[in-house]
Amino acid sequence: MSYRFFVNGDPVEVDAPGMRRLLDVLREDLALTGTKEGCGEGECGACSVLVDGAVVDACLVPVCQVDGAAVATVEGLAAPSPEGAVLDSLQQAFLEAGGAQCGICTPGMLMAARAYLDAGGRPDEAAIRESLAGNLCRCTGYVKII
Ligand code: FES
Ligand code: FES
Repeated sequence: MSYRFFVNGDPVEVDAPGMRRLLDVLREDLALTGTKEGCGEGECGACSVLVDGAVVDACLVPVCQVDGAAVATVEGLAAPSPEGAVLDSLQQAFLEAGGAQCGICTPGMLMAARAYLDAGGRPDEAAIRESLAGNLCRCTGYVKII
């Protein structure tokens, strides 16, 4: 079965079984390996991507559910420029604050945080913690991420 959708603004067409995980389609079929797999069962948030602006666990979403949708992954955060990519402000902040250690959780954290800010979320600590509650990190203790 063929599915058409957008990834980071670019149209893609994928020939895959409808129940193939979006995570596998992104990483294996489209070579977008920025999205990580942690638990594989919807618990850790490492695979968080945006579908039509909403945070989803790509390990739980079958590709048939994103037909026609706009998918955003960590590869789409940085803006291309002639001098090289310009990091998204969140990527820059993670870099400066030491918000990434092993990095497995980082793409998912970034996407969840981006969705929070894009929805008009205010950068106060309690709200940030709540917005990132579905994203687990076993390295940083969350302090630098927050
Ligand atoms: Fe998807 Fe953990 S890999 S939630
Ligand atoms: Fe290693 Fe978060 S930086 S899990």
